[in-house]
Amino acid sequence: MHAKMIGLGKYLPEKVLTNAELEQMVETSDEWIVRRVGIKERHISDEDTFTSDLATRAAEQALKNANLSPEELDLILVASVTPDMYTPSVACLVQKNLGAVGAVAFDINAACSGFVYAMVTASQFIQSGMYRNVLVIGADALSKMTEYQDRKTCVLFGDGAGAAVLQATEEETGILSSFLGADGASGDCLTAPGLRCDEADVERRPFGNLRTIWMDGSAVFKFAVRVMASSAQKVVEQAGKTMADVRLVVPHQANMRIIEGAAKRLDMEDGGIFVNVDKYGNMSSASIPVALCEAVEQGCAQKGDLVVLVGMGGGLTWGSVLIEL
Ligand SMILES: CC(C)(COP(=O)(O)OP(=O)(O)OC[C@H]1O[C@@H](n2cnc3c(N)ncnc32)[C@H](O)[C@@H]1OP(=O)(O)O)[C@@H](O)C(=O)NCCC(=O)NCCS
Repeated sequence: MHAKMIGLGKYLPEKVLTNAELEQMVETSDEWIVRRVGIKERHISDEDTFTSDLATRAAEQALKNANLSPEELDLILVASVTPDMYTPSVACLVQKNLGAVGAVAFDINAACSGFVYAMVTASQFIQSGMYRNVLVIGADALSKMTEYQDRKTCVLFGDGAGAAVLQATEEETGILSSFLGADGASGDCLTAPGLRCDEADVERRPFGNLRTIWMDGSAVFKFAVRVMASSAQKVVEQAGKTMADVRLVVPHQANMRIIEGAAKRLDMEDGGIFVNVDKYGNMSSASIPVALCEAVEQGCAQKGDLVVLVGMGGGLTWGSVLIEL
């Protein structure tokens, strides 16, 4: 059995936070943000909207595009680092919202690699024959754990959700190969405390809100450029293909310079790498599925094309999948 993608969806909250507005909030400039990270604006959820709300809207669109009813779903996977609550999971909240009464549901936390981790998990359940219809969602509301007094992080993040419906098929198509990596020993360079918060975590958050993201930007930058290109290459080789066979690379949208670095290493600079970080910033688990959805909507990749999804993020984690659309 293979896992074929039969529908995509996305949802971005209405409110847009521009660089000009950030200039009023912290000591920064549109020029600095665009030059260093390539972001112009990002979408931010209001205080009553949470990850499960974003995820549900993206899922509804993906199911509509897949022409599948919620009752036909066997499994719902949500990749997120910003769950509404510790329990129930976002996936269970989405299951309730959709009325997907027959589906098993659970969350996956692999930070910005989350959607890739969830796609790989879904494809394993499909390949084994256990489930037939799987809804995979990447959803995050990073604005809720962003310190808007910290210019080093607050310019980077936005909120959103993207979803894909995978279905079992006997055809040799859909997810052709996959690769995942993790390095917990280096995870300290990108953190957001939960129940535990030690002295170092407190020191790193001088504005007092301890539930916010801290990162060593330059360490994360070097890691990201290194793993992005190598893991994209790995899945292509595994499937017996070359980068020349690949129509489009859809990378995690953290930062324009990371994407450009990876494009150069992969020799995919002429439109072969999809970018929308300028409109949305880094939406963690949501970045890749939203980018994939837009790439297909815009005709950058079509049925039969080979597409590589590649992510990296907190944990540290990274991973890639090669998909035939
Ligand atoms: C965040 C990032 C853009 C910062 O760029 P950098 O070149 O590493 O910048 P530094 O943090 O060393 O800061 C350089 C200077 O710019 C300043 N600066 C940082 N953010 C700023 C902002 N928004 N506006 C203006 N100045 C800013 C710093 O205060 C520092 O000033 P100083 O030298 O007077 O202390 C960069 O490290 C990066 O892109 N890292 C990867 C982050 C990422 O994508 N993470 C998610 C991965 S999943």
